[in-house]
Amino acid sequence: MLSRIQELAAKLSPRLIEIRRHIHSHPELSGQEHQTSAFVAGVLSSSGLHVQEGVGQTGVLGELKGSGEDGRILAIRTDMDALPIHERTGLDFSSRCQGIMHACGHDVHTTVGLGTAMVLSEIAQDLPGKVRFLFQPAEEIAQGASWMVDAGAMKDVSAVLGVHVFPSIPAGSIGLRYGALTAAADDLEIIIIGESGHGARPHEAIDAIWIASQVITTLQQAISRTQNPLRPVVLSIGQINGGRAPNIIADQVRLCGTVRSLHPETRTNLPNWIEQIVSSVCQSYGAKYQVNYRPGVPSVQNDYGLTQIFQSAAEEAWGSDRVQVLPEPSLGAEDFSVYLEHAPGSMFRLGVGFKDRNINYPLHHPQFEVDESAIFTGVVTMAYSAYKFWSAS
Ligand code: NI
Repeated sequence: MLSRIQELAAKLSPRLIEIRRHIHSHPELSGQEHQTSAFVAGVLSSSGLHVQEGVGQTGVLGELKGSGEDGRILAIRTDMDALPIHERTGLDFSSRCQGIMHACGHDVHTTVGLGTAMVLSEIAQDLPGKVRFLFQPAEEIAQGASWMVDAGAMKDVSAVLGVHVFPSIPAGSIGLRYGALTAAADDLEIIIIGESGHGARPHEAIDAIWIASQVITTLQQAISRTQNPLRPVVLSIGQINGGRAPNIIADQVRLCGTVRSLHPETRTNLPNWIEQIVSSVCQSYGAKYQVNYRPGVPSVQNDYGLTQIFQSAAEEAWGSDRVQVLPEPSLGAEDFSVYLEHAPGSMFRLGVGFKDRNINYPLHHPQFEVDESAIFTGVVTMAYSAYKFWSAS
């Protein structure tokens, strides 16, 4: 079956590169993937899948029926949205939309999803159960997966597979990870409330700016002394607002940040831990405070058995020297984890780096580019893993 899948994918490759370039030059922002989803729906229906549009706002579901009696549904998820970045690659299929760019490779993910659907539709008689393709919107704002789940996309799903491009792995290779792949990402807002006064008479006021600086310093120091160093926590304050004039002591400061963690247990304790520190600093200097901790997406925890399927499928297809088991997770976030609250799953990293270039620009960079030969690698890896899913479990 592997050689059949490789043959089908090779035959489709020129068309898939055209599809990728079309999507690349017509990027759409999170939640506005109207043209992209209409295009995806068109390709899926012409491959004979049962298609549902408008799932989770601008998402698309495509269902492929196998010929067997296995009641399980395997989901394959790809994301479709682009970023508010002005493209500077100079490619002749560059973005035609001012200030919007597929700089995270979601154009490649969508293409790999479509290619996998086309390949699997050709071998549907050899699939014992159903494959459901989830084309989700709004991954970049970490909301699309929840919209899809709320719309029933994960109903009766037994397992879910995903893919993300990775420029630091060369095209033709893939990366895998057992367990944690990405971090939980939560939003933090801290408001410090002091009392205004004249800049010349600080003792008559409660200086919210100075107290905010103490809060930030204490939080950063306390992480290194109170959090288990083997269980990473990153807290970054990215925004500070407060104050009215150089000679007026500020009565209010708002700090906003992001909190990343890998271990579910660590994450559960973070809101209280942060509040205790803010509270003790503010109390010492007579300020009031508010802490708003908003949970975002959980950490992606790859299922062992499904990751094994990826590994054995990829090693058969490409040889073990082109399959890297990644030593470290990333503290980036990925809303694929939202699906994992409903079924076990695994996501692999698709190498898209150019072997002959010194610089492969990172994701979210205006000059980010992918070696398009990776599309073939992605489609074969995904389609063959899907095929193996039925026999492996
Ligand atoms: Ni992405």
